[in-house]
Formats: sequence, C-alpha cells, structure tokens
Amino acid sequence: MSAYAYYNGRFLKKENVYIPLTDRAFYFGDAVYDVAIGARGRVHLKNEHIERLFSGARSLGYKHGYSHESISNIIDDCVKKSGEESYMIYIQMSRNAQKRSHSCSVCDGVNLLVYAEQYDIPRGSSEIKLVSLEDKRYRFCNIKTVNLLPAVIASTEAEAAGCEEAVFIRDGIVTECAHSNISILKDGTLYTHPTGDKILPGITRRELLNCCVELSIKLREAPFRFSELLSADEVLVTSTTKLLRRACSVDGVKVGCRDGKTYSLLCEKMFERFNGSIT
Ligand code: PDD
Repeated sequence: MSAYAYYNGRFLKKENVYIPLTDRAFYFGDAVYDVAIGARGRVHLKNEHIERLFSGARSLGYKHGYSHESISNIIDDCVKKSGEESYMIYIQMSRNAQKRSHSCSVCDGVNLLVYAEQYDIPRGSSEIKLVSLEDKRYRFCNIKTVNLLPAVIASTEAEAAGCEEAVFIRDGIVTECAHSNISILKDGTLYTHPTGDKILPGITRRELLNCCVELSIKLREAPFRFSELLSADEVLVTSTTKLLRRACSVDGVKVGCRDGKTYSLLCEKMFERFNGSIT
C-alpha cells in the first residue's frame, strides 16, 4: 500500500517519481516541508500544517500557484489513494531553477511532492530518554527547511546512547530537540522557549499551550536554562508524530516525573483534542 505520490500535478507510483537536477533542494536544501498525521480520512490540524508550509515558502520568496485549498485537496487525494487507516503525510515544496547558482533571483517555480504512508498513531503517554547536545544550528530554525544535517547527527548520537531524542542547548538555554519541541513544568507553571529564529514554531507545542489554557495551567513563553530543566517537575517533549511524551532522564541522570497529576491532565487533554479531530 501507500504506493502513490503526488508530484507536480500527477499521481505516480513512488518508484516512478524522479526529482530533476534543476531542483534546488538537491544542491542547496532550498525546500520547505511539513509532516502531519491522521486516521480514517482525517488529518490532524491540517490547516495549521498547510499554513506553516506557506509561511516558510513566503519567507523564502517561493513563487508558486498553489492555494491553501488546492494543497488541502491534494493531501486528501493522497490519503484516499494510500488506502491506509492511519497515516503520516509528507509535503515538500522545493525551488526550481535551470542553472546551479547560489542566488535565487532567476528561478522558475516550485516542485511539489506529497504522499501519505502507513503510520501507527500514538495511543497514549510514553517516557523517553534524552541526550544533551550543543545547539550548533544556524538561526533560521523557525523555517521548516530540509537542511536537517544537525538533526540527523544529533538523532544518530541520541540513538547510539539508547535515547529517543537529543535536547539542544544554546548558551546554557534549552532551545528545542532535534525533531521535537521541549517544555518544562515547575511549581505548576509550564515554561517553553519563545518562538523566534531559534526554534521551530511547533504545531504540537501550540496545542500544548492550548491545553494549558483549557486546564488553567499557568504558562510562560520564556527561555529556561539547562540547569532549570534538570530540576524541573516534568520535562515535556512534543511533536506531530508522537504528540506528547515525558522525558525521564537526560545524559543518564534522572529528571522530571515529579508532577504526574499535571502531566496526566495535559496528556489526557492532548489526546482528547487529537481524537476529536480524527473522528
Ligand atoms: N519534526 N522542532 C523541530 C526541529 C522539528 O523538526 C519538529 C517536527 C518539531 C515539532 O513540531 P511539530 O509539533 O509541528 O511537529 C520541533 C517533524 C515531525 C519531522 O521533521 O518529521
């Protein structure tokens, strides 16, 4: 199953999708992407994912003729064609140019790739281990581009250490993880790094903040230090593909897991909102 992908106006068997040499993603990582999940024909927070893709494309000056509605329809068609009960959707928009040149002033449109493939949606709370690493990325972290080498390196290091994620530290401040956002709970207040060019404005991070509002949990979008993470009551890791997980160790040292009540409330609310959007 999941054999088809949409590419520039056509549905093709995945093995028949050829990306041209003129695609600037290949030379320069000049592409934005997004990942969503869903089940039973629905896509969780589909509009938010499309908006973030468009926002990245706008920031980079992509000239494309796609409307929000057209992308939404393509996603729905991909879901239908996949025939899957639950799925992950991948969307990538890359800039196209006839000649390899760093400057993109002479470019001719974009290539759009979308596909849906089987994915087991998360069912409930889980605990993970983290490694800490220096955040060596540049300052465009708010744009979801395919320039993911630091995330690839960090994720591989995390896996080698028997951990699920790597938490990035920039000048003593916790920014985010290799492919998730991170927040802490301390004395009943949730702290999370503010949006800006140092983190991706995670859609699940926003969901977590919405859950806090619904549950009257105090929240502060403010930077927090690694030392504060180590003494936090809970360390919460959010991402589209895993929703909400709690970290129980960093670099082999136990962290969090001291405010199970608030964590359970947030978890329940998060999954309630998720299940509500796919039924
Ligand atoms: N990763 N931060 C980074 C660097 C990410 O790559 C991601 C998502 C997040 C979480 O954002 P969201 O809640 O919108 O998924 C934060 C996706 C899942 C990926 O690259 O596959």
